[in-house]
Amino acid sequence: MRIAMVGSGYVGLVSGTCFADFGHEVVCIDKDPDKIAALQAGRIPIFEPGLAALVADNARQGRLTFTTEMREAVAAADAVFIAVGTPSRRGDGFADLSYVYAAAREIAAALSGYTVVVTKSTVPVGTGDEVERIIREAAPAAEVAVVSNPEFLREGAAIADFKRPDRIVIGADDPRAAQVMSEIYRPLYLNQAPILVTGRRTAELTKYAANAFLATKITFINEIADLCEQVGANVQEVARGIGLDNRIGSKFLHAGPGYGGSCFPKDTLALVKTAQDAGTPVRLVETVVAVNDSRKRAMARKVIAACGGAVRGRTIAVLGLTFKPNTDDMRDAPSLSIIAGLQDAGARVRAYDPEGMEQARPLLPDIHYATDPYDCADGADALVLVTEWDAFRALDFARLRAAMLAPVVVDLRNVYRAEDLARRGFRYTSVGRPSEPAADA
Ligand code: UDX
Repeated sequence: MRIAMVGSGYVGLVSGTCFADFGHEVVCIDKDPDKIAALQAGRIPIFEPGLAALVADNARQGRLTFTTEMREAVAAADAVFIAVGTPSRRGDGFADLSYVYAAAREIAAALSGYTVVVTKSTVPVGTGDEVERIIREAAPAAEVAVVSNPEFLREGAAIADFKRPDRIVIGADDPRAAQVMSEIYRPLYLNQAPILVTGRRTAELTKYAANAFLATKITFINEIADLCEQVGANVQEVARGIGLDNRIGSKFLHAGPGYGGSCFPKDTLALVKTAQDAGTPVRLVETVVAVNDSRKRAMARKVIAACGGAVRGRTIAVLGLTFKPNTDDMRDAPSLSIIAGLQDAGARVRAYDPEGMEQARPLLPDIHYATDPYDCADGADALVLVTEWDAFRALDFARLRAAMLAPVVVDLRNVYRAEDLARRGFRYTSVGRPSEPAADA
């Protein structure tokens, strides 16, 4: 199959590369000439484990090419994927669809022969209808079907998620288009990935419902964690105790500083707006958004409390800045609110992140960027673990202790064991777990 991928950002690049790896012929298109030049030269503009090698391999085999010019690639394609950004619109939080519609207009002008146009960008319910209207208006004679094919990729695990998905959702009202899409995903039949063919609006809503549900699950366990702290229970054991119930499932029950990233914050907000506009507000999701927002700032208060109630003039070492490990993505990262809260309270902040410091610099200009965890801890009154990178799991705590002014550790990801840190002389706080080792531990 010949595929044109319009938009070579995170989703477009990962999807395009994986399709090429299946054996399809893929052209990735982007308006940004610098990005395309970099990709042509084998430089990957994002950090995603395994992606660089996969791009290089498929480019070498001639199945994956990059261009700024849409016309030729779209004319030759069996399927054209729209994978451009849909940022939150300033002011009302609704997804900004101007890039999607602009792409649709340009695609319409280049179509030739039967073509399936696929929205892969996360778009509100009904966007497929508008994309179809735009294309039919601009190219009334074109043989085209517009389908929705949401992505469920996690940053840091995107290639594995693409190649071994829990399911593929295809929203196609036209059987011929469903046939083309099934052909594109056929290599995944081998893995027995379920392919769900639904109506277009259903597929669009499925994506938002999935992300809102996961965000709700995280927010639920975060509130239970707060309750655990008050009543002397352990949230990890509660999570295990409920997660072993198959109806609940054990994933996305890790308590922490609140969810961030490029998807959950934006998509929950967009679902809230869509539902309000439809006259059926999703009040549960509205509450999830509000609870998660206030949680990030509350984590700064938790650190301040662990420091004895005040941090003015003190130095706080922050380990991990990205919204989660294995990415350099800083979008809606809890670290941003936590560090702002600490600075507002008068603290100086030193930070270290294995991959995120370049992205963090413009967002957090007034902190000291350290060269490693031990440099980060140097002269600190407290150490706060914000992102659970593997490299932070087995730190040399004796060395950290020696570098720090005061032995205070706040673990916002529940990575360490209270008894281990207590043994090394630290005052240790985590999320929803007893601060001191239990008497029977
Ligand atoms: C998410 C969805 O998982 C993916 O299917 C969708 O396509 C895009 O959004 P991503 O944002 O890359 O993927 O990361 P994910 O691993 O889902 O984590 C999102 C946030 O939730 C992170 O801030 C993470 O730290 C937090 N999280 C996740 C928790 O706090 N606890 C958990 O148990 C799981």
